[in-house]
Amino acid sequence: MRETYGVVLPGMSLGDLTGKLIVVEGTDGVGRSTQINLLKPWLEQQGRAVLDTGMTRSELAGKAIKQAKEGHTLGRITLSLFYATDFADRLEKQMVPALRAGFVVLTDRYIYSLMARALVRGLDPKWVRNVYSFALKPDVVFYLRIGVEDLIPRVVFSRGFDYWESGMDLHPSEDMYDSFVKYQTALLAQFDKLAEEYKFEVIDASADIKTIFARLKAGISQVLAGEPLAAAPRPRLVSSPQEEARPTPDDSDRTASQSSSADRAEEQVLQGAGKPGEGSSR
Ligand SMILES: Nc1ncnc2c1ncn2[C@@H]1O[C@H](COP(=O)(O)OP(=O)(O)OP(=O)(O)O)[C@@H](O)[C@H]1O
Ligand SMILES: [Mg+2]
Repeated sequence: MRETYGVVLPGMSLGDLTGKLIVVEGTDGVGRSTQINLLKPWLEQQGRAVLDTGMTRSELAGKAIKQAKEGHTLGRITLSLFYATDFADRLEKQMVPALRAGFVVLTDRYIYSLMARALVRGLDPKWVRNVYSFALKPDVVFYLRIGVEDLIPRVVFSRGFDYWESGMDLHPSEDMYDSFVKYQTALLAQFDKLAEEYKFEVIDASADIKTIFARLKAGISQVLAGEPLAAAPRPRLVSSPQEEARPTPDDSDRTASQSSSADRAEEQVLQGAGKPGEGSSR
């Protein structure tokens, strides 16, 4: 039976959650939406029902978080609890029902981004873990890992960064760019620690979109086949040319009639014609 990290939300039954819970984690602007926009049609093409979800998409708290973040007065504890509320609502109303119906749940961030943000803001680690102890343990967490030097151009040349992604609440008097670098460096260090603790599958997110997509597909195929990921060669931070050339299961299985819409979505995103910023999960 599926487990949580400690407690179970009142009234929530963990029996019969036959679907798969797949998490894509990583810092602001690393490329999570881009990959989820590719993965969803790829999974659907295989006949899988997919629910994709992400931060601030709850009915209960999503809109209010966005409104509150337009101002700059939210305290770190309020911010954390606001996000925890959003997460709890989505867990109860979206993720658990979908898992019970056998869906693949693809989630753009999970509790780990929220923990990392809370930890860099100096909140007590025990308290932070306790807040999220009702979360389900996922089947896999793919961590799109990037160094700050690769993250900066990706973010600056696409959508820029905002007050919260720059940690301006922590370094209010600083230049926004300097603050972004400092804050993201601290955040990435927290992600790295969480990666060890929670056994993330690390994917080098400085690679190109296609390479990352191929790695995610290979990992997800294993999870869906019920194979333990630990038995597979773990994705490395630095890729070798042999790895790049390795075919992924979908490449060999696909028939001509199956291609079409998923392929078109793929082409669009790979050519930058998709809308990677959509489904923003901040
Ligand atoms: N592997 C990659 N190499 C280069 N650019 C990329 C890569 N992946 C995504 N991008 C580009 O980086 C920008 C941010 O990507 P995306 O919106 O997918 O990130 P995100 O992690 O979802 O960000 P957010 O935190 O805003 O939700 C986009 O312009 C996208 O095209
Ligand atoms: Mg996004």
